[in-house]
Amino acid sequence: MYERLISQLAHVRVVTPRIEESLLFYKEVLGLVESSRDGSSVFLRGWGEHFHHSLELVEGPQPALGHIGWRAQGPEQLDAAVKRIEAARAGIGWFDGNAGHGKAYRYRGPGGHEHHLFWDVTRFRAEGDMAPLFPNRPQRFRPRGVAARSIDHVTIATAHPEKDAHWYRETLGHRYMEATVADPEANFGEFVVFGMTTVCERSHDMGLVADFSGAQGRVNHIAYWVDQREDLRRAADVLLDAGIDIEFGPGRHGMGEQDYLYCREPGGMRIELNSGGYHNYEPDFETVRWTPSQGSNVYYRNLKMPHSMHESFPPVDMSQAADNMAKTTLFV
Ligand SMILES: [Fe+2]
Repeated sequence: MYERLISQLAHVRVVTPRIEESLLFYKEVLGLVESSRDGSSVFLRGWGEHFHHSLELVEGPQPALGHIGWRAQGPEQLDAAVKRIEAARAGIGWFDGNAGHGKAYRYRGPGGHEHHLFWDVTRFRAEGDMAPLFPNRPQRFRPRGVAARSIDHVTIATAHPEKDAHWYRETLGHRYMEATVADPEANFGEFVVFGMTTVCERSHDMGLVADFSGAQGRVNHIAYWVDQREDLRRAADVLLDAGIDIEFGPGRHGMGEQDYLYCREPGGMRIELNSGGYHNYEPDFETVRWTPSQGSNVYYRNLKMPHSMHESFPPVDMSQAADNMAKTTLFV
């Protein structure tokens, strides 16, 4: 399907068991800006973002993904998308919206992840001494901590990354850009362990990583963008000096050609920072396939990703994972 129904990834809702510490991290270390609060929700955005929020933070028992918010390409495309979602029997229904957007349609992807799709949005424009100097910016650039500019992608965990990627492409027009299959010695066959889709010009705004736990709707990480690769080096210093351990990086992924850096926020959720990467506008771009030894994950091919990076959220019982993995990968 080549018709564009979704224009961009707009926000994620993240659950944290330690909301005060998490808030401090997102504001003081990541440098996000608080837009508003509503009940138990705190809405935040990167300094360069024009929408009301890209992150909704709520308190809950475990780190988790609440939902992913997408903006439609237009009001007609919103209705067209809802028709397609309902035909795929994935719809949950309409709701009135919130501080950040108007009426929205709620649906569930094949891996159990909840999504919201809307057209009308609330835009942010700073006032007073933060009113922008430049007319194309939503606020003045007064960097704090990492000073993340905008949301980049969300990587969800699912039993069948490639089946899901096909579903998102066929149902809603997400482009399925790149995929990693295991190296031959792993005996996984052609099973995709990691896939990337996009609705925009970036290599991905959604990642799909294999989850053999049997659980539904889990998330691996949320990623924010900084303008320059050198900003990642600076971010590493900011994180370490704030007492936040770096889980992986700084380094470069082969897939998407993005530089990366991963840490955990105090509530436990994995946060990635990234920069660089290619732009691609081809509606019929053919999915690129990699193996890890070609550098899909570690571009420089000189180190292994730490095993902890396989942990997704919320944490679950992994005792059936080996059995599930054998069934899933050998009998696809
Ligand atoms: Fe990522």
